[in-house]
Amino acid sequence: MSISLANRIAIVTGASAGIGSAIARELATHGAAVVVNARRAERLNALVDEIAGSGGRATAVAGDAVEASTIARMLAAAVDTWGSPADLIVANAGRGLAGSPLSSDTDEWEDVIRVNLLGAMRLIREGANAMLESMPEPEAWRTHARDIVIISSSVGKNVSPFSSMYGSTKFAITSIGEAVRREVGPQGVRVTTIHPAVVESEFQQVAGYDPEQFGTFMEKIGPVLQPDDIARLVTFVASQPPHVNLNDIMIRPTRQEYP
Ligand SMILES: NC(=O)c1ccc[n+]([C@@H]2O[C@H](COP(=O)([O-])OP(=O)(O)OC[C@H]3O[C@@H](n4cnc5c(N)ncnc54)[C@H](OP(=O)(O)O)[C@@H]3O)[C@@H](O)[C@H]2O)c1
Repeated sequence: MSISLANRIAIVTGASAGIGSAIARELATHGAAVVVNARRAERLNALVDEIAGSGGRATAVAGDAVEASTIARMLAAAVDTWGSPADLIVANAGRGLAGSPLSSDTDEWEDVIRVNLLGAMRLIREGANAMLESMPEPEAWRTHARDIVIISSSVGKNVSPFSSMYGSTKFAITSIGEAVRREVGPQGVRVTTIHPAVVESEFQQVAGYDPEQFGTFMEKIGPVLQPDDIARLVTFVASQPPHVNLNDIMIRPTRQEYP
């Protein structure tokens, strides 16, 4: 099946690595114009060059995805570069944290809550409002789909034995995703929350997982997911007809039974 997203303008946060980077590449491959964001500007610029080199369209907005000013720059970049507001927003930027409420490093709590929750909440709110403003005709959604895609986690639905403190931020954003879906769905904006289980990326190192313990787990459940597996799913979601909303999706390595 050939998929075209040539009429779509996307924003992808956390696109300098892992899942976000793969989503940006994949959307661009299918013709979408993509605003990519993360803090590491060099990596973003390399990604923009790579996408342009393959005939795709991308522009970089470097900065902290939690800052309201960065979010405003991302939304403005879509209009300034391609003449229309973004209609596919992927709230992906995030980070893990090893441990439970009792065992995790309390020095990291604020940062984890800040990026996983506050940053995603702000982007969802500003992005949804911009989408609603850009469709003054009540029936506009019938011919032009608009999507908000949230990258939550399998530990946003199941309490993790490894990272239940991190998981609590994903439980929260999962609940916000469903709340927003109920709010904007009737106006024609689709909201999709994706819950990946283990994906190989920089995530595990940033989270501070014990390499030996995690290595044993990887052997048991592997091969684990790759960022491209999540990227294909986002493309599948965005390419559905406007009346179809895949709103809640769990994706796991086949051999991972839990979480
Ligand atoms: N890997 C997994 O097993 C897994 C499973 C379920 C869900 N997830 C979720 O998937 C998402 C992506 O994770 P990943 O696996 O791709 O991890 P990753 O390889 O570590 O990538 C994380 C991305 O987020 C960006 N980021 C972090 N803080 C940011 C901030 N304040 N502002 C802007 N960008 C920020 C990083 O870029 P900079 O450092 O350049 O800013 C990087 O591009 C996260 O929300 C994560 O919770 C991951």
